[in-house]
Amino acid sequence: MRVFVAGGSGALGRQLVPQLVARGHQVTATTTSSAKLGLLEKLGAEAVVMDGLDAGSVEAAVAKAEPEAIVHQMTAIAVGHAGKADMKHMDRWFAGTNRLRTEGTDHLLAAAAAAGVTNFVAQSYGAWNGLRTGGWVKAEADPIDPMTGTPAEPGMAAIRHVEDAVVKAGGAVLRYGWFYGPGAMDDLVEPVRKRQFPVVGSGAGRCSWVHLVDAASATVLAVEQQAQGVFAIGDDEPAPASEWLPYLAAAAGAKRPMRVPVWLARPLAGVVAVTVMTEGRGFSNARAKRELGWELQYPSWREGFKAELA
Ligand SMILES: NC(=O)c1ccc[n+]([C@@H]2O[C@H](COP(=O)([O-])OP(=O)(O)OC[C@H]3O[C@@H](n4cnc5c(N)ncnc54)[C@H](OP(=O)(O)O)[C@@H]3O)[C@@H](O)[C@H]2O)c1
Repeated sequence: MRVFVAGGSGALGRQLVPQLVARGHQVTATTTSSAKLGLLEKLGAEAVVMDGLDAGSVEAAVAKAEPEAIVHQMTAIAVGHAGKADMKHMDRWFAGTNRLRTEGTDHLLAAAAAAGVTNFVAQSYGAWNGLRTGGWVKAEADPIDPMTGTPAEPGMAAIRHVEDAVVKAGGAVLRYGWFYGPGAMDDLVEPVRKRQFPVVGSGAGRCSWVHLVDAASATVLAVEQQAQGVFAIGDDEPAPASEWLPYLAAAAGAKRPMRVPVWLARPLAGVVAVTVMTEGRGFSNARAKRELGWELQYPSWREGFKAELA
């Protein structure tokens, strides 16, 4: 199949492109920077520069590639695009990503329609952001928590946009869990090593994790099967922060994380971080396993963290 990966140079794209190539697909992958064209070519793709926020740029790149499937992995969360990670001001940190998930999605869907492409797979997010009522582990039919009145609200609205628009167009959205793996460990582990990543309150909030290799393999399956609808792509063990965080610290050879009460964490780390740690809801991967036949290399973050940090 000819597959167009918008955002092929990112943490996930760098796993996805070679997996698609290994399965015999012909891949065109994009970056915003001509300095990364060589990296994409090394991964086996035809490389193009494209700005996902520029409708003309998107339409031209898609038309030239003549794809049969389009994958949307454009985000601007990394330091180079968004500056330093800032959970407390998530609206600012995610401003570029939110535009890519709204305007960028619309440009890509318009380009897909113009090129007659209906096989469309897009990135969504389902790590800790399930609705904070009822059970601790959610299914695809459960809505994303709108996080009303918090700095995460615009981000959740952008996720809702990507999901609604892509499903309406007959495509699939993958609610990936919290990424870890090659290129995504340093940001995670550095604050743990510095003891700047405490367990807040009870630490009962659940999170779904996913190794980038597994996130990529689920994406390949969604493309090959021309999947439709929403799929949660997290591992088998959505877990409370009180479990995964001390385990991550131990695997990284760091000291045990501190425990901080909610009243102290809220002004320091912000309401979103406190919510993740105390009330977060993870997601079940049952549908992806059943319908896509997804098999994970790292069914639990326990093996995955150890493998990455060994
Ligand atoms: N995905 C999530 O929801 C999420 C949430 C929390 C944390 N993280 C963490 O964030 C780190 C990586 O950041 P990331 O998820 O943003 O991925 P990334 O690894 O930076 O990949 C983003 C992709 O989008 C492309 N892109 C950026 N701006 C674009 C634009 N205007 N038009 C077209 N393409 C554009 C990038 O291209 P170029 O950079 O080559 O131009 C790149 O290919 C990882 O450590 C991950 O764990 C991710």
